[in-house]
Amino acid sequence: MTNYWPRFTRAGFANSVAPIDYLEWYIPALQEAREHNLSFSGMQFEWNLSELLGNEIYDLAKPYIGDVVDPREIIANREGVDVENVLITHGATQGINISLLAAIAKIRDSVNGEITVAVESPTYAPIPQTALILADRVIRMNKSPPKEALGHWRIDRKEWQKAIEQSQIIMITPISNPCGWDLDLDDRDWIISTAQKNGVIIIADEAYNDAYRHTDSYRSIHSFGENCISINSLTKVYSMGPIRFGWIIADSATIVIARRIFMTFSGVMASPTMKIGVAALENLSLVDDAIKHYREANLPGLRAVLERHGIVWNEPPAGVFGCFKLPYDQDSEHFADHHCKANDLLVVPGSMFSDDLKNWVRVAWSIEPNKFKLALDALDKSLHSAITQKQVNKSN
Ligand SMILES: Cc1ncc(COP(=O)(O)O)c(C=O)c1O
Repeated sequence: MTNYWPRFTRAGFANSVAPIDYLEWYIPALQEAREHNLSFSGMQFEWNLSELLGNEIYDLAKPYIGDVVDPREIIANREGVDVENVLITHGATQGINISLLAAIAKIRDSVNGEITVAVESPTYAPIPQTALILADRVIRMNKSPPKEALGHWRIDRKEWQKAIEQSQIIMITPISNPCGWDLDLDDRDWIISTAQKNGVIIIADEAYNDAYRHTDSYRSIHSFGENCISINSLTKVYSMGPIRFGWIIADSATIVIARRIFMTFSGVMASPTMKIGVAALENLSLVDDAIKHYREANLPGLRAVLERHGIVWNEPPAGVFGCFKLPYDQDSEHFADHHCKANDLLVVPGSMFSDDLKNWVRVAWSIEPNKFKLALDALDKSLHSAITQKQVNKSN
């Protein structure tokens, strides 16, 4: 049987590189083009490119250098930093690669022995698996559902302290995938101060942060000072994944190194990416409004369906996805591959993010409300058939 969760060791892949297993499940599932889809962790917003670009649409393939707007300026303004603190990348995933390469470059000549990276779990597989390729050792640090069932997912500080003390670099995702919750504020401050006390570089994948930007306690990790690197992109919150536009924010010395690495590996950014990226950055409020609308329109129905099946729903206060535990400890891959499939519905099993989440399911309310209503009906039926089957099995 295939395991789909992210890897934290190179076991079985000596002299090689481990696969990104979850894509072996997710890509074929997407190719089935099921009628109902609650699997998107990213907002599904229909950008109108011809309206966004006007006649510039014909110049997409022409060089962007010399174009009037530098996207770094828009991002720097939004984040309260200078353009020297921003590097544009091809998506957050390339941001992960380049941040880690830059962090390693900064310490390589002063570390005696192995380079160790501590990475949060559950997670997006390219985070620990980039570290498996580039560093010598990866330590897993767990984030767990709250004991009281509702609220922020929490860390075990003793476990994290031990991991941080053994590492030179840590990698976190402040808005977690698949739970959709932001980092508890006390945990966040504790992680930063513990890392800083130990001289550890912090890399934060903030791909989902913009959905929390309007909340009171919002703060991006780069704002904590030197050696605090933030990664973001237009993929998830702003529905522009296919153009591969992302960025890194850090102190200017780190960005100088990151830029050299980017140029070494990628040369320059793709012109269509830069031109569409700038146009999107100038219109982000269109999507912010749509997210607000989707939350208001879609969440009441989701709450009602989950409640009807006796499922505890720990709803994140912002964003477009969350996760729940199936009743009777059911296996979520079986639920997605059989019960949901029978109702032409796609959801994401928690096992794509961690072996601890085999009974969890991620659902998103990132689609247009009429479509969401139909998908919710399919979820209702899938939960009903899964629970009935369990009850029948139990009584036999
Ligand atoms: C935490 C996290 N970061 C990054 C990404 C991908 O971002 P991008 O498309 O900008 O590379 C994902 C996608 O699932 C993700 O979950």
